[in-house]
Amino acid sequence: MSPPFPQLRALSFGSRLGLTSLCFVLLGGIAASLAHLYLHDHKRDERPGLTVDDVKGVYHGIRSKSPLLVALERGHPETLKTDDRDRLMKWLTGKDLSRTYDDIDLGDKSPQALIADNCLSCHKKSSTDPAARAVLLESDDDVLRQSISRDISPNSTAIVVASTHVHATTLAIVGFAVVMLAACTRFGRGLIGSLTALCGIGLAADIGGWWLTRHQEQFAYLIMAGGAAFTLGTVLLVLLILADLWLPRRSG
Ligand code: HEC
Repeated sequence: MSPPFPQLRALSFGSRLGLTSLCFVLLGGIAASLAHLYLHDHKRDERPGLTVDDVKGVYHGIRSKSPLLVALERGHPETLKTDDRDRLMKWLTGKDLSRTYDDIDLGDKSPQALIADNCLSCHKKSSTDPAARAVLLESDDDVLRQSISRDISPNSTAIVVASTHVHATTLAIVGFAVVMLAACTRFGRGLIGSLTALCGIGLAADIGGWWLTRHQEQFAYLIMAGGAAFTLGTVLLVLLILADLWLPRRSG
């Protein structure tokens, strides 16, 4: 790249060593952010792994009713006695489902017994009705998986304001620094320009997405794509900076 840009490779040994350390500190910080994201947010949706539902849980909240409760509320199956339906619905809307599921004190009125007596004839693998077979209630795990209703509150506005105030300012400054250093490398304007766009637009999409997702949960995908773009753009720019600091120049 032509003057007035200073050339990173032409800096003194001490400057290059210092900049190299800063690059590694930044890469370490990015790795820690990803670890934090995983450890802190991945259980939001009460299911393992970091998924889009975790992001929805943090920024939008999740409400989903247990499929069993939905079925019982719509009067399915017609053969179920009213007081047994009420018992099952009371269980499904209560706490600690797995513990109360096979409560021996309830005898043949425990949720486990009621489901075995009233549902299993249709909802088992050997059932002749393929639509009923699609909803297996044979093992305790089958039942419990379809029993959980989720009502996950999003982070409060105050927390998102605080998080925006910290992240928007610091990450933008990180972006400015990395982009300016990358502009002082030997690599082509096209490459640096594309990575700069990825980094900047990614960050705007990520943080903008936090606020949009509060209103519309589909924007959780924007947060994930934006965060990935910003992280990828930044890491690649840092790698180019490191390369330029230490690779020998082709011509004087
Ligand atoms: C006579 C057979 C039969 C019995 C008994 C029966 N089901 Fe079903 N169930 C079906 C069929 C067929 C479907 C799929 C078509 C439909 O949705 O009605 C179904 C669908 C469902 C679904 C899918 C979601 C929904 O609302 O459609 C759930 C959940 C369900 N049943 C739960 C239960 C539970 C809990 C019981 C016992 C309390 C039970 N079923 C008893 C036949 C049965």
